[in-house]
Amino acid sequence: MEQYKLFIDGEFVNAASGKTFETIDPGTEAPIATVAQAGKADAERAIAAARKAFDSGDWSGLSPVSRMAKIQDFADQIAQQGLRLAETESMESGRIISYAKYAPLLTIVLLRNLCLLAATKFPWEEEIPVSGNVFAPGREYIRREPVGVCVGIIPWNLPLEIAFWKIAPALIMGNTIVLKPASYTPLTALIAAEAAKAAGIPNGVINVIPGPGGELGKILCTHPDVDKIAFTGSTAVGREIMRLASDTVKKVTLELGGKAANIILDDADMELAVEGAVFGTFFHQGQLCESGTRVLISSKIHDEFLDKMKKRAESLRIGYQMDPTSHMGPLVSKTQLATVERYVKLGEEEGAELITGGKRVEVKGINGGYYYAPTIFANVNNKMRIAQEEIFGPVVCIIKYDSDEEAVAIANDSIYGLGGGVFSSNTARAERIARGVRTGTMWINNYHVFADFCPFGGYKQSGVGREFGLESLREYTQVKRIHVSSMADAKSNMSFQLMSDYKKVDGFSYNCPTNVVAGHGALASISKAVVDLGCRRALILTDSGVNKAGLAQLVKNGLADFCVGIYDNIASDPDLETVDAATAVARELKADCIVSVGGGSVIDTAKGVCVTLKNGGKANDHLNMLVLTEPQTPHIAIPTTAGTGSEVTNIAVLTSKGAGRKLFIVDTRIMPNVAILDPRFTMSLPKDLTVTTAMDAMTHAIEAMTSTMANQICDGMALHAIRLINENLPLVVADGKNEKARLNLQIAATMAGWAFTIAQVGLAHGMAHTIGTLHHVPHGVACGIVLPKVMRYNVDHATDKLAQVAQALGITTAGMTEHDAALAAADAVEALMKKVGHPMRLREVGVPEENLAICAFHAIADTAVLFNGRPVGDPNEVLQIYTQAY
Ligand SMILES: NC(=O)c1ccc[n+]([C@@H]2O[C@H](COP(=O)([O-])OP(=O)(O)OC[C@H]3O[C@@H](n4cnc5c(N)ncnc54)[C@H](O)[C@@H]3O)[C@@H](O)[C@H]2O)c1
Repeated sequence: MEQYKLFIDGEFVNAASGKTFETIDPGTEAPIATVAQAGKADAERAIAAARKAFDSGDWSGLSPVSRMAKIQDFADQIAQQGLRLAETESMESGRIISYAKYAPLLTIVLLRNLCLLAATKFPWEEEIPVSGNVFAPGREYIRREPVGVCVGIIPWNLPLEIAFWKIAPALIMGNTIVLKPASYTPLTALIAAEAAKAAGIPNGVINVIPGPGGELGKILCTHPDVDKIAFTGSTAVGREIMRLASDTVKKVTLELGGKAANIILDDADMELAVEGAVFGTFFHQGQLCESGTRVLISSKIHDEFLDKMKKRAESLRIGYQMDPTSHMGPLVSKTQLATVERYVKLGEEEGAELITGGKRVEVKGINGGYYYAPTIFANVNNKMRIAQEEIFGPVVCIIKYDSDEEAVAIANDSIYGLGGGVFSSNTARAERIARGVRTGTMWINNYHVFADFCPFGGYKQSGVGREFGLESLREYTQVKRIHVSSMADAKSNMSFQLMSDYKKVDGFSYNCPTNVVAGHGALASISKAVVDLGCRRALILTDSGVNKAGLAQLVKNGLADFCVGIYDNIASDPDLETVDAATAVARELKADCIVSVGGGSVIDTAKGVCVTLKNGGKANDHLNMLVLTEPQTPHIAIPTTAGTGSEVTNIAVLTSKGAGRKLFIVDTRIMPNVAILDPRFTMSLPKDLTVTTAMDAMTHAIEAMTSTMANQICDGMALHAIRLINENLPLVVADGKNEKARLNLQIAATMAGWAFTIAQVGLAHGMAHTIGTLHHVPHGVACGIVLPKVMRYNVDHATDKLAQVAQALGITTAGMTEHDAALAAADAVEALMKKVGHPMRLREVGVPEENLAICAFHAIADTAVLFNGRPVGDPNEVLQIYTQAY
């Protein structure tokens, strides 16, 4: 009799205890071979060898392509052993030879296919272009790395293939493995080990240790040097393995039991469905975990189907597994035979109707063997134990149903969810059912077909994880995120600052890509701008006031043939519905470009439209920060007020009725492509709007300087904007037709926009957003009223900046302390506001005093407040400012 040894660290060795056991042929009950029986010491040696091999990097450190080359040699060696493997597989597992003869081929192809997948399609390294954390800029990528030492514990039903369902992905992904075959069927895995050795797979990468499951399982699943367990077998043992592995928190994949439903619809091709049910149940003596052991038959065809299935089952030839004419061989063991007999007895006791089978079979010329007849129980209720428990033998339950819904409900009434089938001549109907069944695989008009690139595994108590395909490769890796910070500076790290008193961000990245065309007659550039953007169909978005002032028509004339329409239904402080309505018009007119003509309300609506047009859905779907990875619908902005700077900023401020506040889309990709600053567009702007929108720009500039994100470039922009507003606003108030002063205000607004889009704003904005949403106070008005008060609140946290602001506002600060200069800046802002007739108090603009407290609560939750130079956390402080401004 042949003798087999353990395979540890590249050597075939006896067990440390010297123990051996016999394997027997289940078709004849004759012994086949003696096998060394591994125990605790052998398992520990195998784990140590696998650990050493992994840690050395000799295997895990190879590139996937280099591993592929070695594994292809391994596949070649298996091919050389093909005949021996097929015969041994058949003889020791009882698998019919006409099936077992394909096992080596299936194994080789699996090895090669998974190698190819790993080397060519697997995402070993992936960049994450958008991290989702706007406070920690940097490169983000993930690497997938091998898990380490894997343990494969496998069953006796398909010993060769299932060994490779573990070995192949483990090795290909760079892991090492200790494989424990089932005691009934250890031989093919040991022959595979010979092939691995012959192929030069490095020592310790594969180890094979047959032996008693309970004893070895305990060591393998608890050893701290093992990183992953991959188990195929019963759910009961799977539970135990998960429990054992939990002590050292190992990664676990489990492929467990099943009680699959094979659903025969009333429109199924009868002959096909009968073959499918018979093959789905009795193939390999029913010893396949995803077998369709509950056949669900529509009551409309039940009797005819059952009759045909019975006849077909009775025609199956049961014989010795090595006889090429056998359709079914023996069960694997005496124990398995006893289990089947016990369940058949139970089925009769439960009241199911035994239609055929239910007995052992004697094979002519053979004395012994564990042969059992294909067995059909009809009139089975799904609650019966024979319908709920896995039998793992040639026993099928026939269950009648009346509707498709009932069939799905019965199929799902199981703790298992591994396989399943539907037979129907209507593919759409079959797919509806397939989607409804909670199971890992559904076959339509087929059964038991596996494929190397298609995942296999269980729902519910049928398992954890998947085998085959990219899914299986992922199971044998760990995922590592690597973050490379863009700012290697303690004072620029916003997270570190959570534990520090330094609350500013020193480093910055300045990106303001909008092409600005400015000056009298700048509108003439618009048709070239459209063409340069690759567009032909521009939609003008505007509001009714601007439209009435004739400004949209001016733009339409400038666009010549490229204008597909004017949409002017945009109210001040636009909400998400405004964006959706404008988007609908743009979609209908097939606009490929948006031209916004108006103040911040129109330009922000246009930004929302550009994002929604490009990405689909509704505006509410796109209220994100820094997630856009592609250019959006092209946008040309023509500001008509003196203020927002939205024509160059990365933010769209949109009111959400649901949230009851202004929310934002913030992204570099929403900055308009072109901004046209033509003073003719602001000449018609009434005095009060000129004043209040200019104060919006002033607030941008001052808050950009006092924010935690302030930086030198933005400071430069902001200071010049402050100077321009201070000098030109009184001129425009005195003479609205002063074109030069109008243009200067537009330029100031744009520069202030550039400043705050990088440096952010602060508390004044948070407060203005709140009273804008709750009390409809125009943004510029609200900003102006609270700005000087907020400047005083910030005075100790931005003293130097506010002192510079004072200079830009024309104050002679020589001889003043910096602190006094900073306070003088606030006074100067108030003086300017008075001079130009800006509202000074919230009581003048319709905010009820009793509502100030609730406003304070809302204001501190506004994103802008995060960047205020002085940290703001107490709503009472904000209430005080509102009260001062009242
Ligand atoms: N995205 C940004 O960068 C940004 C910055 C600040 C403010 N905002 C937002 O912008 C909005 C406020 O924008 P706004 O202050 O420009 O006001 P607005 O766009 O709401 O316009 C105010 C009014 O002025 C009228 N108007 C505009 N231009 C005119 C002209 N030339 N002649 C006659 N009438 C004219 C409009 O018809 C409208 O009735 C707010 O929703 C605010 O939250 C956005």
